[in-house]
Amino acid sequence: MSESSLSDALEAATRGVPVAQLTAAVRRLSDRYRQESPASAPLMASAIDVVAYAAYRMPATYAACHAALSSLPTEVVVSSVLDLGGGTGAAAWAVDSLWPGARTTIAEQVPAARSLALDLAAGGPAVAAVPWRLGESLAVSADLVTASYVLSELTDVQQDSLVSVALSHARWAVLLIEPGTPGGYQRILRARSQVLQAGWQIAAPCPHALGCPLVAPDWCHFAVRVPRSSLHRQVKGGELSYEDEKFSYLLAVARDVAVPEPSARVLRHPVKRKGLVELTLCRPDGSAGREIVSKKQGPRYRAARDVDWGDNFV
Ligand SMILES: C[S@@+](CC[C@H](N)C(=O)[O-])C[C@H]1O[C@@H](n2cnc3c(N)ncnc32)[C@H](O)[C@@H]1O
Repeated sequence: MSESSLSDALEAATRGVPVAQLTAAVRRLSDRYRQESPASAPLMASAIDVVAYAAYRMPATYAACHAALSSLPTEVVVSSVLDLGGGTGAAAWAVDSLWPGARTTIAEQVPAARSLALDLAAGGPAVAAVPWRLGESLAVSADLVTASYVLSELTDVQQDSLVSVALSHARWAVLLIEPGTPGGYQRILRARSQVLQAGWQIAAPCPHALGCPLVAPDWCHFAVRVPRSSLHRQVKGGELSYEDEKFSYLLAVARDVAVPEPSARVLRHPVKRKGLVELTLCRPDGSAGREIVSKKQGPRYRAARDVDWGDNFV
């Protein structure tokens, strides 16, 4: 399912909703989400909040899910997905674009979000929506369990509990995504320890299961460029035709999945100068640092010229 059909669905869902109401809700929600602090009650508190969330966040959370899921080893065939805290269904659109026809069950506490997720997906991804709040039982398991931009609304204890739910309901893979901030990275690191302790393997982004070599103020995050529709520009303001969504993530696979030989991960935009490419890499031996690749290195240089932030580099 293409990005443009998602944006068409969003255009249709917002038609007739007063722009002033949407913009006010976007401002309120984005201020609150920026705090990245636990929420005792749903942050999307009204139907307008839900539509506003979909209009200003869904293209970006879709793009982050799509980018992260693209690293899943090809041997993992996904036909069912459980999306914890699935909101308005962004992950389902990413899943459908990678594994057309796969069915996503959106487990979501906010009724208006479940309802909008179903409306948006009419004629698009195959989705079901079930009411769910962390702590309640969930009688669904799936090949892949996702939780995107959910941990930041939870306390540490709740985060551990959500990761346990994800691991216990997934057959092959679990994807966790957080904002690409130092706080988001810390939550991913915490989840990473839990995932490794449970005997799961990391498929991406880490090329090893050793301690993370990054040292503060550095943090592991990636970015994906998201085209901004006129609807997005209207509700969020700003003139640029794109925005860069920064995200931190962890893609884990069950112990019996054959994971390809790991290669280094590019941690920054490569710096390209005449005859030289400077890469910042996280390496399979557990180290991280810079590598200058020169034209004299032939094929390695040509490979370095082609990689981007977030890619693997052999
Ligand atoms: C920022 S939204 C992300 C929505 C969607 N996953 C996405 O990527 O667009 C956070 C979601 O987490 C859900 N959530 C927050 N706290 C929760 C809890 N205690 N139990 C279940 N879901 C929760 C919210 O209802 C909301 O849909």
